[in-house]
Amino acid sequence: MTKTAALFSTYRFAGRDLDHRLVMAPMTRNRAAADGTPSALMSEYYTQRAGAGLIIAEATTPNRVGQTYADIPGLYTDAHVTGWRAVTDSVRAAGGRMFVQLQHGGRVGHPDNSGLHPIAPSAIPLPEGIHTPAGHQDSVVPKAMDTDDIEATIADFVTAARNAVAAGFEGVEIHSANGYLLHQFLAANTNHRTDEYGGSIAGRIRFTLAVVDAVAAAIGPDRVGIRLSPGVTANSIAETDTEALYPVLVAALAERRLAYLHLVFADPESPLFHQLRALWPTTLIANPNLGWGVPLPADGGRAAAESLLTAGADLISLGRSFLANPDLITRLQTGAPLNPVRDAHLMYTGGPEGYTDYPVLDRIPSAA
Ligand SMILES: Cc1cc2nc3c(=O)[nH]c(=O)nc-3n(C[C@H](O)[C@H](O)[C@H](O)COP(=O)(O)O)c2cc1C
Repeated sequence: MTKTAALFSTYRFAGRDLDHRLVMAPMTRNRAAADGTPSALMSEYYTQRAGAGLIIAEATTPNRVGQTYADIPGLYTDAHVTGWRAVTDSVRAAGGRMFVQLQHGGRVGHPDNSGLHPIAPSAIPLPEGIHTPAGHQDSVVPKAMDTDDIEATIADFVTAARNAVAAGFEGVEIHSANGYLLHQFLAANTNHRTDEYGGSIAGRIRFTLAVVDAVAAAIGPDRVGIRLSPGVTANSIAETDTEALYPVLVAALAERRLAYLHLVFADPESPLFHQLRALWPTTLIANPNLGWGVPLPADGGRAAAESLLTAGADLISLGRSFLANPDLITRLQTGAPLNPVRDAHLMYTGGPEGYTDYPVLDRIPSAA
């Protein structure tokens, strides 16, 4: 099989074939209502991208205190479920499938964004501050979570996961990456706890495993994916033991037989990638590192995707290429040029501009 054939070969995922190996990565776009209810605009955006085959919907908060930024969606009220149901119905009618990412921000939050004081493994603020409706502000010192906070947070993940199923998602992706709450437990610079949720590797992975176990018990392990970002420094995470911690964590997760493991910035040359692949028994989704803050490569990440498939990934997630190309799959299949990401400042601004107005092929004048 050629590499190109692999990208467009079918893959059995959760009991049904996907037509190709590309997945839309979760991307926060801040287009929900102020109370976290998904909007009709979000339905249009995701439906435009149903060709992704599998869409992992953007970071969605399981409770109010976990809300990172303004206008991100939730899954903890009836209105959230109803709003998401409209999105999943529309995407399914267009032939797409959806998981949703559950994200608790931990110290990545602000009272001006959530209305509540953030909580985190330890009382260590986010050094770089955070965006709020009033502009960029210093972070507040989060409250260190006590046992009640830990139990309540796990319970909220369970409720949100049940709500996700009620809203028509095939499953949930637990966000344990990119410096948000679960990652803050994993990393020694954000976890100074002296109880059973801190200290050793076994202590620091305990919270992620507890969330996964509770959610898997509620909706079934085959409806649960997990996102990890070994070595990624987003939100001022500074891991001290990446090579030691992730094999232990992934081996423990492997016993749970989850739907998938989703690795951020996967590097096909890294020994850790191959080690984690060997440990993982089910679907591995890899998100290539295409360079952050730089224009995307002209091929939209196709070569990087093919390298990761060759290195053993089952599916490849792409973010910005799907953001800018609603019909990314058709363009890659036909060799048509890709839209570049335009107006990066519109990523998080709300409204249709830079969101639902990216052109598809039959609307490009030169292709007419
Ligand atoms: C606008 C935007 C929002 C993002 N929001 C999320 C998010 O909600 N959850 C998450 O895990 N990653 C998020 N990411 C990271 C992407 O999922 C992906 O890992 C990253 O963009 C690299 O992939 P790419 O080079 O194909 O864009 C976001 C990225 C972008 C560009």
